[in-house]
Amino acid sequence: NTTLRNASLLSALVHKTQQLPPIFVEAEGQRPVLEMGSPPLASTHVIPIVDMSLLSSSDPAVRASLVEEIVAACEKYGFFQVVNHGVSENLILRCETEAHKMFELPLEVKERVHRPPGTSFGYGANTWVNQTVMHWAESFHMQLHPKSNIREFSRKLFTESDYTIFSSTVEKYMGQIEKLGRHLVELLTEGLGLEPTRFNHYVENECMMSMRFNLYPPCPQPELAIGLRAHTDPHLLTILHQDEIAGLQVQIDEEWITVNPRPDCFVVNIGDLFQVLSNTRYKSVLHRAVVNGTSKRLSLACFLNPPLNATVEPPPELITTERPPVYRPFTWGEYLANAYNFHPANGGERHERF
Ligand code: SIN
Ligand code: FE2
Repeated sequence: NTTLRNASLLSALVHKTQQLPPIFVEAEGQRPVLEMGSPPLASTHVIPIVDMSLLSSSDPAVRASLVEEIVAACEKYGFFQVVNHGVSENLILRCETEAHKMFELPLEVKERVHRPPGTSFGYGANTWVNQTVMHWAESFHMQLHPKSNIREFSRKLFTESDYTIFSSTVEKYMGQIEKLGRHLVELLTEGLGLEPTRFNHYVENECMMSMRFNLYPPCPQPELAIGLRAHTDPHLLTILHQDEIAGLQVQIDEEWITVNPRPDCFVVNIGDLFQVLSNTRYKSVLHRAVVNGTSKRLSLACFLNPPLNATVEPPPELITTERPPVYRPFTWGEYLANAYNFHPANGGERHERF
């Protein structure tokens, strides 16, 4: 069982080695450029931060400029950040605490919920198709719906009292992020000049909502390793919270830009599906996570997706002579089955396949 072996290997190695084991050494040319193995320096290039409290302004111009700001960010960076988003910092902290509790469990306990090869949920290393070098990270992926696996996982990991705290905190956190996500989908839809509710069927009822905890332990040779290799998110929308340690980088104009962590911010990014729905007006942009030599880093990544059988295609209003259709219609289920074999933002064979 490869996944299990990978997870065991990783857990056995972290914290205990002075030299990076060869399985984690990235090929030359793929390695991140870091400053002395410390967390990446604060970036001067800031991913726009949008104050969501302004949405309730009585002045329609204020609201309009906010939507414009979001649209501009999604066209240019595929990323923006939100503050005053309505999710309490206390809930975020509690969810981070539960995530740490989970990762600190002994390996044999975490193995009770290991992610079987070829499946999405559970604990393990983030392994990709045809991957030979391992990511320097542990992860735990859970689904809220259409079918929650949170309680089942929680029951296998924790004792009776801890079980309830874990599952109720995670459910509450994901529920609030989902609400925020639906709101953001409406704003993004409005920004395309469409009725704000136009895409709501993609994120209601049987939509797929999941969360991945990512834990990046301190790395003995961070300049040789990567926490999560450059990728675009296949999803509709990702809402990420990073702890106080930097590590997330976004590729802008061929440069890797660090997203400075802020406890009051969520980092929001356009996934491949939203790029498709917007007929490429919004960009699903390459990003990665780098690691450092001193501090462990935790990120909570929530993913909002349509129901598996929903057809994803841009509405006719977004198809013009200047902007002809780029993709054939497809379902999220179909895309999911292929998502890690190719990346839309990388160009390539997309048009032929989707
Ligand atoms: C991700 O891209 O899913 C995670 C990035 C991060 O840990 O900041
Ligand atoms: Fe990602």
